[in-house]
Amino acid sequence: MKFSLFSSLAVAFAIATVSAAPIEKRATDNNKVVGYWVPWGDVPVADLDMTQYTHINYGFAVLYKGAAAPTTITFDRYYDGTPMRALVQQGNAAGVPILMSIGGWTGSQTFSDVAANASMRATFINNAMVFVRNNTLPLYADTPDGWNMDGIDIDWEYPGRAGAICNDYTPQDAANYLILLQELRAQMDLEFPTIHKYLTAAVRVQPWDGPNGPMSDVTAYVQYLDWISIMAYDIMGSWSNTTGPNAPFNNPDSPGNPYSFVQAVTAWKSAGWPLNKMVVGTAFYGRSLTTTVDMDTQNPVTMYVPHTATTPKGGPADTNDVNFYCNEGAVYSGLWEWKELRTGPLAGGPTTPAAGWTRYWDNGTSTPWLFNAATSMFISYDDIESMTIKVNYVKAQGILGVMLWDMSYDYNSELITVLNTVHCGSDCPTPPVQSSSSPAQPTTTVAATTTQAPVTTTTQAAATTTTAPASPSSTPSNPGTGQCAGVAPWNAATTYATAGTKVTYGGHLWTNQWWTQGDTPTTTAYTVWTDNGPC
Ligand SMILES: *[C@@H]1O[C@H](CO)[C@@H](O)[C@H](O)[C@H]1NC(C)=O
Ligand SMILES: *[C@@H]1O[C@H](CO)[C@@H](O)[C@H](O)[C@H]1NC(C)=O
Ligand SMILES: *[C@@H]1O[C@H](CO)[C@@H](O)[C@H](O)[C@H]1NC(C)=O
Ligand SMILES: *[C@@H]1O[C@H](CO)[C@@H](O)[C@H](O)[C@H]1NC(C)=O
Repeated sequence: MKFSLFSSLAVAFAIATVSAAPIEKRATDNNKVVGYWVPWGDVPVADLDMTQYTHINYGFAVLYKGAAAPTTITFDRYYDGTPMRALVQQGNAAGVPILMSIGGWTGSQTFSDVAANASMRATFINNAMVFVRNNTLPLYADTPDGWNMDGIDIDWEYPGRAGAICNDYTPQDAANYLILLQELRAQMDLEFPTIHKYLTAAVRVQPWDGPNGPMSDVTAYVQYLDWISIMAYDIMGSWSNTTGPNAPFNNPDSPGNPYSFVQAVTAWKSAGWPLNKMVVGTAFYGRSLTTTVDMDTQNPVTMYVPHTATTPKGGPADTNDVNFYCNEGAVYSGLWEWKELRTGPLAGGPTTPAAGWTRYWDNGTSTPWLFNAATSMFISYDDIESMTIKVNYVKAQGILGVMLWDMSYDYNSELITVLNTVHCGSDCPTPPVQSSSSPAQPTTTVAATTTQAPVTTTTQAAATTTTAPASPSSTPSNPGTGQCAGVAPWNAATTYATAGTKVTYGGHLWTNQWWTQGDTPTTTAYTVWTDNGPC
């Protein structure tokens, strides 16, 4: 049983030319700190510190080909309604607007088809409006006709470009997206003439792709969006020829992936996107690879070295489950949440590697990395120091704010605290855009190391495309308590004929109470699956 929103109601359109003023629930904040909250993260809504965010995006509602129609908006499979209601309630109480994020890495399969067709756009928009409408049905209705959210975040990955292998895309996507945004904005303003519902978009490090690649002029889109959130992460990883930074501030030495925080801001700005409608994304996680060289004995030291084809298991929560919405193979992501780093390779402190690990600072990217000679594992990640450099840049440039993926990855609020230094008004200081003074040498090390020469700068290839996956992604991650060892993940196609059969799902162990097939494990009343708790 999959919970989905679908309505065949006809939608009347009227193009509103003027949007009502946005409601700033946290009126004192001039800068945004936008967090993504996901139901498979292991931080329940009740445990969130709402004072750390100005806006929260719920990820995700998805468009996928297995749904009733291309326009059907399906909640992420971990959905049971409860966290969404709780988040809206808590957001309202704290003055933090809650937006529904539609799409994501595996949830963008039919955007291209929907955007291209006027009738499908109308149906999709009506379905999307359910998130921002007020519910008129009983409070705990299974299919409320409104979720009373404050806006919609469109996370189409990506218009005009292949993202996940299940997506449709055409060179006309960006042109159609403009119409979709215009019509969605108009419908929001029509239904809420005195309330401004937010409309935002998650975007990659280059402007949307037109028929000839990244567009040189995106000014036509600006009026419809409150801001774009640039996913300035997932820059290098298993898809790259060499190891490299996950979320570089700059990336001058990369052999072929010139993308970075600064490059992304510059690219969008050059295409006409205003800085005061720009939120730049940060990664509260790192990515790991297995290298084929000993990075501790290189001379000179570089973070760009060959790696094996197979991505290793990252932190304890990393799984190689096949993604329900789009089968891209049973592979690990290699992802390390900040809290996993801080309770593992960096357990001794934010810059103190545990035994076996060496921490390096890469001056070119202004990011740290770790290497473990025994396992040949390389991890590129962000820490307090690298986040501070990014936030200072945002303030110095007058950029609207920062976004983070995702809210469950932090450790003792170490990183979110840095992001919150972004707040300032007209008196915003102008800190220098820093780069660390240290070359690529171990900054702290347990193992004895020899002195290394600084990184040499190589000429970067002028690559203009990348197929790097970009979060916000729908990749689940599960906590690891052990009880799921050896238990197969739930599969929509499998028949579970015997009561008491164990499956894993959403990081939990579940058992069925009767014959079932195709029923997503949820904790909603009267469902076949019983939740036996976290794995
Ligand atoms: C648009 O979508 C509708 C509904 O799916 C379909 O009936 C119609 O043929 C489509 N139009 C075009 C031009 O593809
Ligand atoms: C919708 O719900 C909100 C919050 O409960 C309330 O403030 C607002 O007045 C409602 N709007 C309508 C049109 O009912
Ligand atoms: C990766 O290596 C291949 C083969 O040498 C090359 O064709 C390609 O351009 C490289 N890609 C990048 C991004 O450097
Ligand atoms: C660090 O990088 C900056 C610019 O990226 C450069 O000017 C500086 O010389 C570098 N410092 C070292 C020690 O490599």
